[in-house]
Amino acid sequence: QESHAWSGRFSEPVSELVKKYTASIDFDKRLAEFDIEGSLAHAAMLNKAGVLSDDDVAAIRRGMAEILDDIRAGRLEWSVDLEDVHMNVERRLTDKIGDAGKRLHTGRSRNDQVATDIRLWLRAQIDAIVGFIAELQTSLLELAEKHADTVMPGFTHLQVAQPVTFGHHMLAYVEMLARDAERMSDCRKRVNRLPLGAAALAGTTFPIDRHYTAQLLGFDDVCHNSLDAVSDRDFAIEFTAAASLVMVHLSRLSEELILWMSPRVGFIDIADRFCTGSSIMPQKKNPDVPELVRGKSGRVVGHLIALVTLMKAQPLAYNKDNQEDKEPLFDTVDTLIDTLRIYADMMRGVTVKPEAMRAAVLQGFATATDLADYLVKKGLPFRDSHEVVALSVRYAEGRGVDLADLSLEELQQFSKLIEQDIYQVLTPEGSLAQRDHVGGTAPNQVRAQIARHKARLAG
Ligand code: ARG
Repeated sequence: QESHAWSGRFSEPVSELVKKYTASIDFDKRLAEFDIEGSLAHAAMLNKAGVLSDDDVAAIRRGMAEILDDIRAGRLEWSVDLEDVHMNVERRLTDKIGDAGKRLHTGRSRNDQVATDIRLWLRAQIDAIVGFIAELQTSLLELAEKHADTVMPGFTHLQVAQPVTFGHHMLAYVEMLARDAERMSDCRKRVNRLPLGAAALAGTTFPIDRHYTAQLLGFDDVCHNSLDAVSDRDFAIEFTAAASLVMVHLSRLSEELILWMSPRVGFIDIADRFCTGSSIMPQKKNPDVPELVRGKSGRVVGHLIALVTLMKAQPLAYNKDNQEDKEPLFDTVDTLIDTLRIYADMMRGVTVKPEAMRAAVLQGFATATDLADYLVKKGLPFRDSHEVVALSVRYAEGRGVDLADLSLEELQQFSKLIEQDIYQVLTPEGSLAQRDHVGGTAPNQVRAQIARHKARLAG
């Protein structure tokens, strides 16, 4: 039994159940290195302010260095009696250096301390995540480049709509991920402000220099209201919302990979190392990784809901509720990073089957809009042209052929404006080539977008 910092106030210890219920050390020990970083900056600031002596700060630095070694070597024994990472570290420090360790907590509270730790930790995670998003984008760009000309059906309502290229389809996800990275970087600005100095809730009586602490810790600014500094976790909610969107984007891609890999569709294959077999059906190869990503997106969205709900009815300032912010936040980061890493690797293991994609385009009257646009260019109003094409499609469907398989005479039954040059626009390649503007699916536009993204990622 290690006694609490506040034991003098209490006449009996908490029960074992309460101790376990209120302790966070099992999960917040993960913040230890950031807790130490924050403490060292706080100590340096107190020293500059004349509150801590040079000797005390030197002892604190020495003790913390040892603790860091102990943590990294797995030697530090975390005690549930000491409740959380902050009191564990402080007690170990005091065990090592005596009174100087006891002076460290001058002018601060665990309330501003924990808010600082989470922000330092999350900032580092965001930087890693932005890097992993870029790696996934690079992997998608490789695939897009290989298939800048590969025809596939574009769908709306999961019905064949118009031809696109597989490269264009991959670039849609590169765009989503670019916005995801932007959201992460933007969120980082609001994460990167210093709560320390708010102390418990009202600030402190010591002559602290918060800007100095902020500078030491690489924060862009301080939180300007002490009540707000210790009580809000909006930055964590914002991060988890941005993480949820990444997961939602990858869940959509997963859904497509699963569909495309179904033998009924057969557009792609996924390397064996991302799939598993069945314990009963010998023929099976299941797309487990995309299915799990789709499943784990629900888990991250759940964490977002947990954090929003955690926050919504808390009066100012700090409440112990906030201790519950950590597990959802940690799990969001772990799930997101694992997903991004495995995805970058998995997309390199995707084999595209161009013949199957092309065959699907030829089955769905995918160039009907091209026929309509052709007639408009010959002077027919779009609504009339739409009707001409609808009748042509109905006719071709009755014959069981594609529009491009109809003879000129057959097509001319529907409009005399149709001439021999129609066959250039009725092929999938003709259809693609005509969508030649920024954001369009023409292969040279797809290549231009690939180049733009590559330059962006290199810069
Ligand atoms: N373990 C606590 C948390 O995660 C640290 C702050 C505790 N402060 C308090 N007054 N009980 O929020």
